[in-house]
Amino acid sequence: PVKVTKICCIGAGYVGGPTCAVIALKCPHIQVTIVDLNQARIDAWNCPDFKLPIYEPGLVDVVKQARGRNLFFSTDVDKGIQEADLIFVSVNTPTKKSGVGAGFAADLNYVESATRRIAAVAQSSKIVVEKSTVPCRTAESMRTILEANSRPGTRFDILSNPEFLAEGTAIADLFKPDRVLIGSLQTSEGKDACQSLAEVYANWVPTERILTVGLWSSELSKLAANAMLAQRISSINALSAICEATGANIDEVAHAIGFDSRIGPKFLRASVGFGGSCFQKDILNLVYLSESLHLPQVAAYWRQVVEMNEYQKHRFSKTVVDTLFNTITGKHIAVLGFAFKADTGDTRESAAITLIRDFLTERAYVTIYDPQVEESQIWLDLAEAMPGVPLENIKKQVTIASSAPEACKNKEAIVIATEWKEFREIDWETVYTHMNKPAFVFDGRLLVDADKLRKIGFRVTTIGRGERT
Ligand code: NAD
Ligand code: UDX
Repeated sequence: PVKVTKICCIGAGYVGGPTCAVIALKCPHIQVTIVDLNQARIDAWNCPDFKLPIYEPGLVDVVKQARGRNLFFSTDVDKGIQEADLIFVSVNTPTKKSGVGAGFAADLNYVESATRRIAAVAQSSKIVVEKSTVPCRTAESMRTILEANSRPGTRFDILSNPEFLAEGTAIADLFKPDRVLIGSLQTSEGKDACQSLAEVYANWVPTERILTVGLWSSELSKLAANAMLAQRISSINALSAICEATGANIDEVAHAIGFDSRIGPKFLRASVGFGGSCFQKDILNLVYLSESLHLPQVAAYWRQVVEMNEYQKHRFSKTVVDTLFNTITGKHIAVLGFAFKADTGDTRESAAITLIRDFLTERAYVTIYDPQVEESQIWLDLAEAMPGVPLENIKKQVTIASSAPEACKNKEAIVIATEWKEFREIDWETVYTHMNKPAFVFDGRLLVDADKLRKIGFRVTTIGRGERT
Protein backbone atom coordinates (compact mmCIF):
# COMPACT_ATOMS: atom_id res chain seq x y z
CA PRO A 1 0.00 0.00 0.00
CA VAL A 2 1.05 3.59 -0.73
CA LYS A 3 2.22 5.51 2.33
CA VAL A 4 0.26 8.73 2.21
CA THR A 5 2.39 11.88 2.66
CA LYS A 6 0.34 14.52 0.89
CA ILE A 7 -3.42 14.92 1.06
CA CYS A 8 -5.57 17.32 -0.92
CA CYS A 9 -9.19 17.98 0.02
CA ILE A 10 -11.45 19.48 -2.63
CA GLY A 11 -14.15 21.49 -0.84
CA ALA A 12 -13.44 23.70 2.20
CA GLY A 13 -16.94 23.49 3.67
CA TYR A 14 -18.47 22.17 6.89
CA VAL A 15 -17.06 18.72 6.23
CA GLY A 16 -13.83 19.23 4.28
CA GLY A 17 -12.58 22.03 6.55
CA PRO A 18 -12.92 20.42 10.01
CA THR A 19 -12.18 16.86 8.81
CA CYS A 20 -8.93 17.70 7.08
CA ALA A 21 -7.88 20.19 9.75
CA VAL A 22 -8.13 17.34 12.27
CA ILE A 23 -6.21 14.99 9.96
CA ALA A 24 -3.45 17.64 9.76
CA LEU A 25 -3.43 18.06 13.52
CA LYS A 26 -3.24 14.34 14.22
CA CYS A 27 -0.79 13.53 11.40
CA PRO A 28 1.99 16.15 11.51
CA HIS A 29 3.98 14.06 9.00
CA ILE A 30 1.28 14.49 6.33
CA GLN A 31 0.91 17.71 4.34
CA VAL A 32 -2.77 18.60 4.03
CA THR A 33 -4.01 21.18 1.52
CA ILE A 34 -7.68 22.11 1.43
CA VAL A 35 -8.72 23.71 -1.84
CA ASP A 36 -11.92 25.42 -2.91
CA LEU A 37 -13.10 27.54 -5.84
CA ASN A 38 -14.69 30.01 -3.43
CA GLN A 39 -12.05 32.71 -2.83
CA ALA A 40 -13.91 34.34 0.05
CA ARG A 41 -14.15 31.03 1.88
CA ILE A 42 -10.44 30.29 1.45
CA ASP A 43 -9.55 33.84 2.56
CA ALA A 44 -11.60 33.30 5.70
CA TRP A 45 -9.82 30.00 6.44
CA ASN A 46 -6.52 31.89 6.04
CA CYS A 47 -7.67 34.88 8.07
CA PRO A 48 -4.90 36.11 10.44
CA ASP A 49 -7.29 36.57 13.39
CA PHE A 50 -8.96 33.17 12.84
CA LYS A 51 -12.43 34.46 11.92
CA LEU A 52 -13.07 31.16 10.15
CA PRO A 53 -15.91 30.72 7.65
CA ILE A 54 -17.73 28.27 9.90
CA TYR A 55 -18.42 28.28 13.63
CA GLU A 56 -17.63 25.00 15.30
CA PRO A 57 -16.56 24.65 18.94
CA GLY A 58 -12.84 23.75 19.16
CA LEU A 59 -12.16 24.36 15.47
CA VAL A 60 -10.12 27.53 15.93
CA ASP A 61 -7.73 25.71 18.29
CA VAL A 62 -7.17 22.94 15.76
CA VAL A 63 -6.54 25.38 12.89
CA LYS A 64 -4.24 27.50 15.09
CA GLN A 65 -2.04 24.52 15.80
CA ALA A 66 -1.82 23.15 12.27
CA ARG A 67 -2.22 26.03 9.82
CA GLY A 68 1.05 26.98 8.17
CA ARG A 69 2.71 23.86 9.67
CA ASN A 70 1.19 21.08 7.59
CA LEU A 71 -2.26 22.52 6.92
CA PHE A 72 -2.83 24.89 4.01
CA PHE A 73 -5.86 26.49 2.39
CA SER A 74 -5.76 27.51 -1.24
CA THR A 75 -7.79 28.22 -4.36
CA ASP A 76 -5.16 26.55 -6.50
CA VAL A 77 -7.14 23.37 -7.06
CA ASP A 78 -4.87 22.02 -9.80
CA LYS A 79 -1.70 22.33 -7.76
CA GLY A 80 -3.42 20.69 -4.79
CA ILE A 81 -4.45 17.76 -6.99
CA GLN A 82 -1.05 17.39 -8.64
CA GLU A 83 0.92 17.33 -5.40
CA ALA A 84 -1.30 14.89 -3.50
CA ASP A 85 -1.19 11.13 -3.35
CA LEU A 86 -4.64 11.00 -1.76
CA ILE A 87 -7.53 13.33 -2.64
CA PHE A 88 -10.74 13.77 -0.68
CA VAL A 89 -13.70 14.95 -2.71
CA SER A 90 -15.76 16.84 -0.15
CA VAL A 91 -17.92 19.09 -2.29
CA ASN A 92 -21.60 19.83 -1.81
CA THR A 93 -24.25 17.41 -3.10
CA PRO A 94 -27.51 19.34 -2.68
CA THR A 95 -30.94 18.14 -3.74
CA LYS A 96 -31.52 18.75 -7.46
CA LYS A 97 -33.72 21.77 -8.11
CA SER A 98 -34.61 20.98 -11.71
CA GLY A 99 -34.46 18.24 -14.32
CA VAL A 100 -34.82 14.51 -13.76
CA GLY A 101 -35.29 13.70 -10.06
CA ALA A 102 -35.82 17.38 -9.12
CA GLY A 103 -36.66 17.72 -5.44
CA PHE A 104 -35.30 14.26 -4.60
CA ALA A 105 -32.11 13.21 -6.36
CA ALA A 106 -28.69 14.50 -5.37
CA ASP A 107 -27.12 17.06 -7.67
CA LEU A 108 -23.84 15.38 -8.57
CA ASN A 109 -22.61 18.20 -10.73
CA TYR A 110 -19.99 19.35 -8.21
CA VAL A 111 -18.72 15.82 -7.62
CA GLU A 112 -18.45 15.29 -11.34
CA SER A 113 -16.58 18.55 -12.02
CA ALA A 114 -14.14 17.85 -9.20
CA THR A 115 -13.60 14.34 -10.59
CA ARG A 116 -13.07 15.64 -14.12
CA ARG A 117 -10.58 18.19 -12.80
CA ILE A 118 -8.63 15.39 -11.11
CA ALA A 119 -8.61 13.42 -14.36
CA ALA A 120 -7.54 16.49 -16.35
CA VAL A 121 -4.60 17.60 -14.24
CA ALA A 122 -3.26 14.54 -12.38
CA GLN A 123 0.21 13.53 -13.56
CA SER A 124 0.69 10.63 -11.17
CA SER A 125 -1.43 7.89 -9.59
CA LYS A 126 -3.95 8.97 -6.95
CA ILE A 127 -6.24 7.50 -4.38
CA VAL A 128 -9.51 9.39 -4.82
CA VAL A 129 -11.77 9.34 -1.78
CA GLU A 130 -15.45 10.09 -2.01
CA LYS A 131 -16.15 12.02 1.21
CA SER A 132 -19.33 13.75 0.03
CA THR A 133 -22.60 11.95 0.69
CA VAL A 134 -23.67 10.45 -2.62
CA PRO A 135 -26.17 7.95 -3.99
CA CYS A 136 -25.17 4.33 -4.12
CA ARG A 137 -22.81 3.53 -7.02
CA THR A 138 -21.52 7.08 -7.55
CA ALA A 139 -17.99 5.77 -7.02
CA GLU A 140 -18.54 3.67 -10.13
CA SER A 141 -19.25 6.79 -12.21
CA MET A 142 -16.22 8.53 -10.73
CA ARG A 143 -14.07 5.56 -11.64
CA THR A 144 -15.38 5.52 -15.20
CA ILE A 145 -14.63 9.23 -15.66
CA LEU A 146 -11.15 8.92 -14.17
CA GLU A 147 -10.22 5.81 -16.11
CA ALA A 148 -11.50 7.20 -19.41
CA ASN A 149 -9.34 10.27 -18.98
CA SER A 150 -6.18 9.02 -17.29
CA ARG A 151 -2.73 9.42 -18.75
CA PRO A 152 -0.68 6.32 -19.46
CA GLY A 153 1.06 5.14 -16.32
CA THR A 154 -1.31 6.84 -13.89
CA ARG A 155 -3.93 4.85 -12.02
CA PHE A 156 -6.80 5.89 -9.83
CA ASP A 157 -8.19 3.94 -6.93
CA ILE A 158 -11.58 5.02 -5.64
CA LEU A 159 -12.61 4.75 -2.02
CA SER A 160 -15.80 5.71 -0.25
CA ASN A 161 -15.23 7.26 3.17
CA PRO A 162 -18.46 8.94 4.24
CA GLU A 163 -18.37 11.43 7.09
CA PHE A 164 -20.52 10.97 10.17
CA LEU A 165 -19.67 14.15 12.10
CA ALA A 166 -22.56 16.25 13.35
CA GLU A 167 -22.33 20.02 13.24
CA GLY A 168 -21.81 21.69 16.59
CA THR A 169 -19.82 18.69 17.81
CA ALA A 170 -17.68 18.17 14.70
CA ILE A 171 -14.30 18.40 16.42
CA ALA A 172 -15.27 16.09 19.27
CA ASP A 173 -16.79 13.65 16.75
CA LEU A 174 -13.65 13.71 14.61
CA PHE A 175 -11.32 13.26 17.60
CA LYS A 176 -13.29 10.28 18.84
CA PRO A 177 -15.44 8.89 16.04
CA ASP A 178 -17.86 6.03 16.79
CA ARG A 179 -16.44 4.54 13.63
CA VAL A 180 -14.58 5.42 10.46
CA LEU A 181 -16.04 3.67 7.43
CA ILE A 182 -13.97 2.91 4.35
CA GLY A 183 -15.42 1.21 1.29
CA SER A 184 -13.30 -0.14 -1.51
CA LEU A 185 -13.44 -2.53 -4.41
CA GLN A 186 -12.58 -5.97 -3.12
CA THR A 187 -9.62 -6.30 -5.51
CA SER A 188 -6.05 -6.37 -4.23
CA GLU A 189 -5.50 -2.78 -5.49
CA GLY A 190 -8.75 -1.69 -3.87
CA LYS A 191 -7.78 -3.29 -0.57
CA ASP A 192 -4.32 -1.68 -0.70
CA ALA A 193 -5.84 1.76 -1.24
CA CYS A 194 -8.20 1.08 1.65
CA GLN A 195 -5.25 0.22 3.88
CA SER A 196 -3.42 3.42 2.89
CA LEU A 197 -6.37 5.50 4.09
CA ALA A 198 -6.92 3.32 7.16
CA GLU A 199 -3.31 4.01 8.15
CA VAL A 200 -3.97 7.76 8.08
CA TYR A 201 -6.88 7.37 10.52
CA ALA A 202 -4.96 4.88 12.63
CA ASN A 203 -2.81 7.80 13.80
CA TRP A 204 -5.55 8.57 16.31
CA VAL A 205 -8.52 6.23 15.80
CA PRO A 206 -8.37 2.77 17.43
CA THR A 207 -8.12 0.17 14.65
CA GLU A 208 -11.19 -1.71 15.83
CA ARG A 209 -13.22 1.40 15.02
CA ILE A 210 -12.00 1.54 11.44
CA LEU A 211 -14.46 -0.52 9.43
CA THR A 212 -13.65 -1.66 5.94
CA VAL A 213 -16.44 -2.79 3.62
CA GLY A 214 -17.35 -2.91 -0.05
CA LEU A 215 -17.82 0.36 -1.94
CA TRP A 216 -21.59 0.13 -2.32
CA SER A 217 -22.19 -0.87 1.27
CA SER A 218 -20.18 2.13 2.37
CA GLU A 219 -22.16 4.53 0.20
CA LEU A 220 -25.47 3.07 1.28
CA SER A 221 -24.51 2.99 4.97
CA LYS A 222 -24.19 6.76 5.03
CA LEU A 223 -27.71 7.26 3.64
CA ALA A 224 -28.99 4.53 5.94
CA ALA A 225 -27.45 6.05 9.08
CA ASN A 226 -28.97 9.46 8.41
CA ALA A 227 -32.32 7.98 7.46
CA MET A 228 -32.49 5.97 10.68
CA LEU A 229 -31.41 8.91 12.83
CA ALA A 230 -34.01 11.18 11.24
CA GLN A 231 -36.60 8.43 11.59
CA ARG A 232 -36.03 8.42 15.36
CA ILE A 233 -36.76 12.13 15.51
CA SER A 234 -39.87 11.82 13.35
CA SER A 235 -41.01 8.93 15.55
CA ILE A 236 -40.60 10.90 18.76
CA ASN A 237 -42.18 13.96 17.15
CA ALA A 238 -45.16 11.89 16.01
CA LEU A 239 -45.53 10.75 19.61
CA SER A 240 -45.26 14.37 20.81
CA ALA A 241 -48.50 15.10 18.95
CA ILE A 242 -50.20 12.27 20.84
CA CYS A 243 -48.79 13.61 24.12
CA GLU A 244 -50.20 17.05 23.48
CA ALA A 245 -53.61 15.58 22.74
CA THR A 246 -53.69 13.27 25.75
CA GLY A 247 -51.82 14.97 28.57
CA ALA A 248 -48.85 12.60 28.44
CA ASN A 249 -45.38 14.14 28.61
CA ILE A 250 -42.95 13.38 25.78
CA ASP A 251 -39.92 13.79 28.06
CA GLU A 252 -41.25 11.06 30.33
CA VAL A 253 -42.12 8.85 27.37
CA ALA A 254 -38.65 9.30 25.82
CA HIS A 255 -37.04 8.58 29.18
CA ALA A 256 -39.11 5.45 29.65
CA ILE A 257 -38.54 3.99 26.20
CA GLY A 258 -34.88 5.07 26.11
CA PHE A 259 -34.22 2.84 29.14
CA ASP A 260 -34.74 -0.17 26.89
CA SER A 261 -31.17 -0.95 25.96
CA ARG A 262 -32.31 -1.92 22.48
CA ILE A 263 -33.71 1.57 21.93
CA GLY A 264 -31.21 3.63 23.94
CA PRO A 265 -31.61 7.15 25.32
CA LYS A 266 -29.90 9.28 22.67
CA PHE A 267 -31.51 11.24 19.85
CA LEU A 268 -35.02 11.05 21.27
CA ARG A 269 -35.56 14.73 21.90
CA ALA A 270 -38.87 15.97 20.57
CA SER A 271 -38.47 19.22 18.70
CA VAL A 272 -40.00 21.67 16.35
CA GLY A 273 -38.61 19.47 13.56
CA PHE A 274 -35.20 18.42 12.38
CA GLY A 275 -33.18 20.68 10.13
CA GLY A 276 -29.66 20.74 8.78
CA SER A 277 -28.18 20.15 5.38
CA CYS A 278 -28.18 16.37 5.61
CA PHE A 279 -31.25 14.59 6.95
CA GLN A 280 -33.87 15.74 4.49
CA LYS A 281 -31.51 15.68 1.52
CA ASP A 282 -30.21 12.21 2.26
CA ILE A 283 -33.64 10.70 2.88
CA LEU A 284 -35.00 12.19 -0.34
CA ASN A 285 -31.98 10.74 -2.02
CA LEU A 286 -32.84 7.32 -0.57
CA VAL A 287 -36.44 7.76 -1.70
CA TYR A 288 -35.25 8.52 -5.20
CA LEU A 289 -32.89 5.56 -5.16
CA SER A 290 -35.72 3.26 -4.02
CA GLU A 291 -37.99 4.54 -6.75
CA SER A 292 -35.32 4.11 -9.40
CA LEU A 293 -34.93 0.53 -8.21
CA HIS A 294 -38.71 -0.01 -8.58
CA LEU A 295 -39.25 -0.32 -4.84
CA PRO A 296 -42.22 2.05 -4.34
CA GLN A 297 -43.15 0.70 -0.87
CA VAL A 298 -39.62 1.30 0.36
CA ALA A 299 -39.68 4.80 -1.10
CA ALA A 300 -43.02 5.60 0.56
CA TYR A 301 -41.75 4.32 3.91
CA TRP A 302 -38.78 6.69 3.99
CA ARG A 303 -40.66 9.60 2.48
CA GLN A 304 -42.98 9.54 5.46
CA VAL A 305 -40.06 10.51 7.74
CA VAL A 306 -39.76 13.82 5.87
CA GLU A 307 -43.52 14.31 5.70
CA MET A 308 -43.80 13.85 9.46
CA ASN A 309 -41.11 16.52 9.88
CA GLU A 310 -43.04 18.99 7.70
CA TYR A 311 -46.16 18.20 9.70
CA GLN A 312 -44.34 18.86 12.97
CA LYS A 313 -43.08 22.27 11.86
CA HIS A 314 -46.50 23.42 10.67
CA ARG A 315 -48.24 21.88 13.64
CA PHE A 316 -46.06 24.02 15.89
CA SER A 317 -46.78 27.27 14.03
CA LYS A 318 -50.47 26.40 14.15
CA THR A 319 -50.23 25.90 17.92
CA VAL A 320 -48.75 29.39 18.20
CA VAL A 321 -51.59 30.91 16.17
CA ASP A 322 -54.30 28.92 18.00
CA THR A 323 -52.93 29.82 21.42
CA LEU A 324 -52.65 33.51 20.58
CA PHE A 325 -56.43 33.61 20.26
CA ASN A 326 -56.49 32.36 16.67
CA THR A 327 -54.80 35.36 15.13
CA ILE A 328 -51.28 36.71 15.08
CA THR A 329 -51.91 39.44 12.51
CA GLY A 330 -50.12 42.58 13.69
CA LYS A 331 -48.77 40.79 16.78
CA HIS A 332 -45.11 40.90 17.80
CA ILE A 333 -43.28 37.62 18.19
CA ALA A 334 -39.69 37.06 19.30
CA VAL A 335 -38.01 34.03 17.74
CA LEU A 336 -35.03 32.84 19.75
CA GLY A 337 -32.64 30.86 17.57
CA PHE A 338 -32.29 30.70 13.82
CA ALA A 339 -29.60 28.01 13.39
CA PHE A 340 -30.83 24.47 12.76
CA LYS A 341 -29.37 23.33 16.08
CA ALA A 342 -27.25 24.80 18.88
CA ASP A 343 -23.50 25.41 18.57
CA THR A 344 -23.53 26.07 14.87
CA GLY A 345 -24.09 29.11 12.68
CA ASP A 346 -25.48 26.89 9.93
CA THR A 347 -29.07 27.62 8.93
CA ARG A 348 -29.59 25.12 6.13
CA GLU A 349 -33.13 23.67 6.37
CA SER A 350 -33.52 25.20 9.81
CA ALA A 351 -37.01 24.72 11.26
CA ALA A 352 -36.85 28.37 12.38
CA ILE A 353 -37.10 29.45 8.75
CA THR A 354 -40.36 27.54 8.22
CA LEU A 355 -41.85 28.91 11.45
CA ILE A 356 -40.93 32.49 10.62
CA ARG A 357 -42.30 32.13 7.11
CA ASP A 358 -45.58 30.87 8.59
CA PHE A 359 -45.69 33.81 11.02
CA LEU A 360 -44.96 36.33 8.27
CA THR A 361 -47.64 34.82 6.07
CA GLU A 362 -50.06 35.42 8.96
CA ARG A 363 -48.82 39.05 8.91
CA ALA A 364 -47.17 39.01 12.33
CA TYR A 365 -44.07 41.06 13.18
CA VAL A 366 -41.06 38.93 14.01
CA THR A 367 -37.87 39.78 15.88
CA ILE A 368 -35.08 37.25 15.55
CA TYR A 369 -32.06 36.64 17.74
CA ASP A 370 -29.38 34.01 17.22
CA PRO A 371 -25.95 34.08 18.87
CA GLN A 372 -24.07 32.84 15.79
CA VAL A 373 -26.02 33.43 12.60
CA GLU A 374 -24.95 36.49 10.59
CA GLU A 375 -27.65 39.04 9.77
CA SER A 376 -26.93 38.77 6.06
CA GLN A 377 -27.59 35.02 6.22
CA ILE A 378 -30.97 35.57 7.88
CA TRP A 379 -32.03 37.93 5.08
CA LEU A 380 -30.82 35.48 2.44
CA ASP A 381 -32.75 32.60 4.01
CA LEU A 382 -35.96 34.56 4.44
CA ALA A 383 -35.81 35.90 0.89
CA GLU A 384 -35.31 32.36 -0.40
CA ALA A 385 -38.15 31.04 1.77
CA MET A 386 -40.58 33.62 0.41
CA PRO A 387 -40.01 33.74 -3.32
CA GLY A 388 -41.87 36.56 -4.99
CA VAL A 389 -41.94 38.70 -1.83
CA PRO A 390 -39.45 41.59 -2.16
CA LEU A 391 -36.87 41.72 0.63
CA GLU A 392 -37.94 45.32 1.48
CA ASN A 393 -41.38 43.95 2.34
CA ILE A 394 -39.92 41.17 4.47
CA LYS A 395 -37.79 43.77 6.26
CA LYS A 396 -40.92 45.73 7.17
CA GLN A 397 -42.07 42.74 9.21
CA VAL A 398 -38.75 41.43 10.55
CA THR A 399 -36.18 42.89 12.93
CA ILE A 400 -32.92 41.29 14.01
CA ALA A 401 -31.93 41.80 17.64
CA SER A 402 -28.50 41.58 19.22
CA SER A 403 -29.54 39.76 22.40
CA ALA A 404 -32.34 37.54 23.63
CA PRO A 405 -33.71 40.03 26.20
CA GLU A 406 -33.69 42.78 23.58
CA ALA A 407 -35.58 40.52 21.14
CA CYS A 408 -38.26 39.82 23.75
CA LYS A 409 -38.95 43.44 24.71
CA ASN A 410 -42.54 44.59 24.07
CA LYS A 411 -43.53 41.29 22.44
CA GLU A 412 -46.65 39.22 22.93
CA ALA A 413 -44.89 35.90 22.53
CA ILE A 414 -41.51 34.21 22.55
CA VAL A 415 -40.84 31.18 20.36
CA ILE A 416 -37.78 29.08 21.16
CA ALA A 417 -36.61 27.53 17.91
CA THR A 418 -33.01 26.52 18.67
CA GLU A 419 -31.71 24.92 21.87
CA TRP A 420 -28.90 27.44 22.55
CA LYS A 421 -27.68 27.04 26.12
CA GLU A 422 -27.83 30.79 26.70
CA PHE A 423 -31.63 30.71 26.32
CA ARG A 424 -31.80 28.51 29.39
CA GLU A 425 -29.94 31.17 31.35
CA ILE A 426 -32.13 34.13 30.39
CA ASP A 427 -33.28 36.31 33.29
CA TRP A 428 -36.94 35.47 32.72
CA GLU A 429 -38.27 37.74 35.48
CA THR A 430 -36.82 40.81 33.80
CA VAL A 431 -37.92 39.61 30.37
CA TYR A 432 -41.45 39.18 31.74
CA THR A 433 -41.66 42.73 33.05
CA HIS A 434 -40.84 44.09 29.58
CA MET A 435 -43.38 41.99 27.66
CA ASN A 436 -46.94 42.73 26.63
CA LYS A 437 -49.45 40.77 28.70
CA PRO A 438 -50.52 38.04 28.65
CA ALA A 439 -46.96 36.98 27.84
CA PHE A 440 -46.60 33.67 26.01
CA VAL A 441 -43.64 31.32 25.66
CA PHE A 442 -43.65 28.52 23.07
CA ASP A 443 -40.83 26.11 23.76
CA GLY A 444 -40.08 24.13 20.62
CA ARG A 445 -36.99 22.55 22.14
CA LEU A 446 -37.98 21.33 25.62
CA LEU A 447 -35.47 23.88 26.86
CA VAL A 448 -36.95 25.96 29.64
CA ASP A 449 -38.35 25.08 33.04
CA ALA A 450 -42.03 25.59 32.23
CA ASP A 451 -43.18 25.51 35.87
CA LYS A 452 -40.70 28.20 36.86
CA LEU A 453 -41.84 30.40 34.00
CA ARG A 454 -45.48 29.87 34.87
CA LYS A 455 -44.78 31.03 38.43
CA ILE A 456 -43.39 34.26 36.99
CA GLY A 457 -46.63 34.72 35.07
CA PHE A 458 -45.84 33.40 31.58
CA ARG A 459 -48.27 31.23 29.68
CA VAL A 460 -46.09 28.38 28.51
CA THR A 461 -46.68 25.85 25.73
CA THR A 462 -44.09 23.11 25.48
CA ILE A 463 -43.82 20.72 22.59
CA GLY A 464 -45.05 17.27 23.58
CA ARG A 465 -46.76 18.25 26.84
CA GLY A 466 -50.45 17.98 27.33
CA GLU A 467 -50.87 20.71 29.91
CA ARG A 468 -51.12 24.31 28.74
CA THR A 469 -51.64 27.43 30.83
P1 NAD B 1 -20.40 22.95 1.85
O1 NAD B 1 -21.32 23.55 0.87
O2 NAD B 1 -20.20 23.59 3.18
O3 NAD B 1 -18.93 22.85 1.18
C1 NAD B 1 -18.69 22.38 -0.08
C2 NAD B 1 -17.58 23.23 -0.71
O4 NAD B 1 -17.17 22.64 -1.94
C3 NAD B 1 -18.00 24.67 -1.04
O5 NAD B 1 -17.17 25.57 -0.34
C4 NAD B 1 -17.81 24.76 -2.57
O6 NAD B 1 -17.32 26.03 -3.00
C5 NAD B 1 -16.79 23.69 -2.83
N1 NAD B 1 -16.80 23.18 -4.21
C6 NAD B 1 -17.85 22.76 -4.95
N2 NAD B 1 -17.44 22.31 -6.16
C7 NAD B 1 -16.09 22.45 -6.18
C8 NAD B 1 -15.09 22.14 -7.14
N3 NAD B 1 -15.42 21.58 -8.31
N4 NAD B 1 -13.81 22.43 -6.84
C9 NAD B 1 -13.48 22.98 -5.65
N5 NAD B 1 -14.38 23.27 -4.70
C10 NAD B 1 -15.67 23.01 -4.95
O7 NAD B 1 -20.85 21.45 2.03
P2 NAD B 1 -20.64 20.49 3.32
O8 NAD B 1 -21.68 20.76 4.34
O9 NAD B 1 -19.20 20.53 3.71
O10 NAD B 1 -20.97 19.08 2.69
C11 NAD B 1 -20.09 18.44 1.79
C12 NAD B 1 -20.54 17.01 1.62
O11 NAD B 1 -20.45 16.30 2.85
C13 NAD B 1 -21.99 16.86 1.16
O12 NAD B 1 -22.08 15.78 0.27
C14 NAD B 1 -22.72 16.54 2.44
O13 NAD B 1 -23.87 15.76 2.20
C15 NAD B 1 -21.71 15.72 3.19
N6 NAD B 1 -21.85 15.76 4.65
C16 NAD B 1 -22.14 16.93 5.31
C17 NAD B 1 -22.22 16.95 6.70
C18 NAD B 1 -22.54 18.22 7.44
O14 NAD B 1 -22.75 18.14 8.64
N7 NAD B 1 -22.56 19.38 6.82
C19 NAD B 1 -21.97 15.79 7.42
C20 NAD B 1 -21.65 14.62 6.74
C21 NAD B 1 -21.59 14.62 5.35
C1 UDX C 1 -26.45 14.70 11.05
C2 UDX C 1 -25.95 13.37 11.60
O1 UDX C 1 -26.16 13.33 13.02
C3 UDX C 1 -24.48 13.19 11.29
O2 UDX C 1 -24.05 11.91 11.72
C4 UDX C 1 -24.28 13.31 9.78
O3 UDX C 1 -22.92 13.21 9.46
C5 UDX C 1 -24.83 14.64 9.29
O4 UDX C 1 -26.21 14.77 9.66
P1 UDX C 1 -26.29 17.25 11.82
O5 UDX C 1 -27.38 17.46 10.85
O6 UDX C 1 -25.10 18.11 11.77
O7 UDX C 1 -25.76 15.74 11.73
O8 UDX C 1 -26.88 17.39 13.31
P2 UDX C 1 -27.79 16.44 14.23
O9 UDX C 1 -27.27 16.54 15.61
O10 UDX C 1 -27.95 15.09 13.68
O11 UDX C 1 -29.19 17.19 14.22
C6 UDX C 1 -30.01 17.24 13.06
C7 UDX C 1 -31.33 17.90 13.41
O12 UDX C 1 -32.10 17.05 14.25
C8 UDX C 1 -31.19 19.22 14.15
O13 UDX C 1 -32.13 20.15 13.70
C9 UDX C 1 -31.47 18.82 15.58
O14 UDX C 1 -31.94 19.90 16.36
C10 UDX C 1 -32.53 17.77 15.40
N1 UDX C 1 -32.63 16.82 16.52
C11 UDX C 1 -31.57 16.04 16.86
C12 UDX C 1 -33.83 16.69 17.21
O15 UDX C 1 -34.80 17.39 16.91
N2 UDX C 1 -33.91 15.80 18.24
C13 UDX C 1 -32.87 15.00 18.59
O16 UDX C 1 -33.02 14.19 19.53
C14 UDX C 1 -31.66 15.13 17.88
